[in-house]
Amino acid sequence: MTTFAFTAPLGLTPYVAVPLIDGEARLRPLLHGELDPQQAVFDGLSSSSRVDRFLTGLDKLTPGMWRTLTDVDGHDHVAWLATVDGHPAGIARFVRVGPCTADIAFEVTDEHQGRGIGTALLDAVTTVAAAMRIRRLQAAALGTNRRSQHLLARVGVTLHPSDGLLEGESLFHLLDEPVVDRPAVVRLAFEARSHGPLGRCA
Ligand SMILES: CC(C)(COP(=O)(O)OP(=O)(O)OC[C@H]1O[C@@H](n2cnc3c(N)ncnc32)[C@H](O)[C@@H]1OP(=O)(O)O)[C@@H](O)C(=O)NCCC(=O)NCCS
Repeated sequence: MTTFAFTAPLGLTPYVAVPLIDGEARLRPLLHGELDPQQAVFDGLSSSSRVDRFLTGLDKLTPGMWRTLTDVDGHDHVAWLATVDGHPAGIARFVRVGPCTADIAFEVTDEHQGRGIGTALLDAVTTVAAAMRIRRLQAAALGTNRRSQHLLARVGVTLHPSDGLLEGESLFHLLDEPVVDRPAVVRLAFEARSHGPLGRCA
């Protein structure tokens, strides 16, 4: 098994701690090719959470999907992992689909839903997106997925019916109240970025 270690510079912890209602989560960037946490999070999703996340029922992900999910580069594809007591609990990501626009998606294992981890991950990835000059976010959700719609609306992304789903693309803003230490998130995000100059957005 490949071991990935995110090495932060001296004086910088390799994660951002987030207090939860009942404990603590640690957030950090996922690294390119880091499969094990993604597998653990997928395994921790119930079938209905998988439908909510992938918009279709899935017993397992195809090799192509695994390749896509692990192909993070910290710039065009950014993913952040939340762990609780050292165990993967959720992932949020954005994938750039244009110079200033990205697609956003997130999931929290059923065991840890409702503890504030989804909100913390959303705050982390939108903070990184803003720092990397992304201005617009797009997302899709099932019409029944009110939690996701609610979370996205909190950063300004509103979804509308389209082909049996809800979809939307909007200018986004950060959560009104920070949940994560945003300067620390940005520092870690830039440390983890493997390549790529910042794009230019008006
Ligand atoms: C959507 C999801 C990521 C939210 O993660 P989470 O860690 O449960 O979210 P939080 O605990 O931060 O709660 C977010 C909001 O949902 C509400 N909520 C949480 N659990 C809830 C529940 N069981 N019933 C109703 N509301 C709930 C919270 O009160 C919070 O609302 P607030 O912002 O008004 O306080 C998670 O439910 C999930 O992974 N679902 C399956 C995959 C999915 O839908 N992904 C999104 C599509 S891309």
